Amino acid sequence: MKFHITTFGCQMNVHDSQWLTAALESRGWEESGEDDAQVYILNTCSVREKPEQKVYSELGRVAAHLKRDENVFAAVGGCVAQQVGEGFFDRFPFVRLVFGSDGIAGAPNALERIARGTDDRVALLDFTAGFAEREQPEKLSALVPDTRQAFVNIMQGCDNFCAYCIVPYTRGRQKSRHPDVILDECRRLAENGVREITLLGQNVNSFGLDKGGAGVTFAGLLRSVAAIDGVDRLRFTTSHPKDIAPEVIAAFGELPNLCPSLHLPMQAGSDRVLKAMRRRYDTTRYLSIVDGLRAARPDISLTTDLIVGFPGETEEDFRQTLAMVERVGFESSFSFKYSDRPGVAAVNMEPKVDPLEASDRLLRLQALQNNITRKCLKELMGVNTDALIEGLSRKQDGPASSWKGRDPAGRIVNVPMEQDAGLEGMIVPVTIVEAKKHSLNGERTGEPW
Ligand code: 5AD
Ligand code: SF4
Repeated sequence: MKFHITTFGCQMNVHDSQWLTAALESRGWEESGEDDAQVYILNTCSVREKPEQKVYSELGRVAAHLKRDENVFAAVGGCVAQQVGEGFFDRFPFVRLVFGSDGIAGAPNALERIARGTDDRVALLDFTAGFAEREQPEKLSALVPDTRQAFVNIMQGCDNFCAYCIVPYTRGRQKSRHPDVILDECRRLAENGVREITLLGQNVNSFGLDKGGAGVTFAGLLRSVAAIDGVDRLRFTTSHPKDIAPEVIAAFGELPNLCPSLHLPMQAGSDRVLKAMRRRYDTTRYLSIVDGLRAARPDISLTTDLIVGFPGETEEDFRQTLAMVERVGFESSFSFKYSDRPGVAAVNMEPKVDPLEASDRLLRLQALQNNITRKCLKELMGVNTDALIEGLSRKQDGPASSWKGRDPAGRIVNVPMEQDAGLEGMIVPVTIVEAKKHSLNGERTGEPW
């Protein structure tokens, strides 16, 4: 069987798709281009209105060419599948499997049964009580790419119910994964060549606050993973500011392989709006976390998510967001216009911000961010660091090949090197020689290792 997976959304979804690929490849299935696929799998995101719309237009697009062969079918997974469920079977008859965030564990077997003709349509939408463990695929290649970077799930779901957010409904309640299983998986990946691990969860800082963590805290888990032989770089995402423990902040100063970067969604810089969003921290607390992180690790790079136009946000509230962005000096940020999501508390909050006003705020915020990003990158001129090579750069404009890598903070660094193949997954010592708008150029100063 040939299959093709298209993935929308966050890193959790990217990782889910990698796992599904590995599980299907372990059954002898083969990943293919879209045109040759007998099974077309769409892993979906519904966190904001735009990504959800993208899912429907993508399904409409593939509908046309799936119709040519009635043995060809589609499966829809992820957050939109969890939300719409069996509704997909009516709207798109070629969809024969829907699976949610816990249901994905059963997706490979369900796909096999459908392909064999044993089952016609399958819906895997139930939430499990604990973390839904998945089989460990025999074939690891989809989980261990040439870049030697891998994701490891440590938890599923979220208990926070921020007023704008659909995730607690699509990913269910928070469920930590057993730390022994997490550590076994990390060790197996490292033994198979992985040198960078990103621990994943909707809210990793509250790992272990439910029953699933077996008494291990997130800080404790970080230490254990950092101690595994071969893990040169360790990252984690996403963090909720309210749950970040002092021990996690301190870890940035103590664990040399814990990368100096943190994505810490602030969402808004007005205490009034943060309260309406039910974020359960204020700007004072947020700033004290920032100060603590910078004291522990002065070169830490901070990034964030921001929402503009949340119901009731005034011009003054928005200006406070601009002021906070400037005060913290985020190196980059993802910023979004608020959009109503089905079932969330903010749907009933008034007054809604005029969409044109919200667009204007987004532009102003992004202009400010671009200036700060430029300034942050300029300050890195002359710095000695290293880059983990991910592949050839998009632009090739010199006699040597240009390679794209990432420094420990995750910034893109392009480095010219004589070799034109085989450097993926190598770490190259570099000096930063140029700062572009969103990336850096480096010069190699030592041997790749
Ligand atoms: N509208 C706009 N942005 C949202 N996000 C989550 N829900 C919404 C919404 N309803 C943003 C938040 C979150 C990121 C993943 O998406 O900033 O951190
Ligand atoms: Fe999108 Fe959130 Fe689902 Fe990730 S968890 S796919 S960001 S809705």
